[in-house]
Amino acid sequence: MTHLRDRTTKPVTFRTLTYQIGLLLALESTREMQTKETVIETPLEPYRGQVLGDNLVLVPILRAAIGLVQPFTDLFPDVSIGYVGLERDHETAVARNYYCKLPQLAGRHVLIVDPMLATGGSAVQTIRLVQENGGQNVSIVCVLATPEGVRAVEALDPKIPIFAAALDRELNTRKYILPGLGDYGDRLYGT
Ligand code: PRP
Ligand code: URA
Repeated sequence: MTHLRDRTTKPVTFRTLTYQIGLLLALESTREMQTKETVIETPLEPYRGQVLGDNLVLVPILRAAIGLVQPFTDLFPDVSIGYVGLERDHETAVARNYYCKLPQLAGRHVLIVDPMLATGGSAVQTIRLVQENGGQNVSIVCVLATPEGVRAVEALDPKIPIFAAALDRELNTRKYILPGLGDYGDRLYGT
């Protein structure tokens, strides 16, 4: 996390660190997922074991969350992926929805992925979209969260779990996270 925050870290390293933190977040955010019993045959005898029971859907918020998709698909190759495109207005920090393509969500475990939970506006809009499309079992997965962002999600639905690599101090007047790491999308893509 310290290397990710470091302003001298270049996009190539930033992307690798995002992948590595993404793997840890993928493990943590799925720790409580349901499994179901199944019986298979080893080469020697029958075996009663567990396989994933929940049907997982990933909803990355464009564009920065693209950097977190690969670790999830590496661990869960059968995951379905829906995309929501949101962009914060540079003056008001209010996010505008420009894209939404979601798979069937009812009865599935939905992980909304976005590296930054800043004001929480993007997360709240996405939760609403997911719930309107039938998603009931929803979690938020992010790299950095703020107390304000957490409060915004809790105000919408206190039952939604939030998995974050770090909880930072506050937002500045331009709604950037402090201490933070800057603009995640810009650092990921070198823009
Ligand atoms: C960033 C970030 C989150 C959002 C969080 O996206 O990737 O999606 O801000 O802020 P919020 O909690 O205050 O809504 P941005 O709008 O900069 O778009 P980008 O991913 O295309 O860079
Ligand atoms: N989005 C970012 O990319 N960084 C912030 O600090 C806040 C929102």
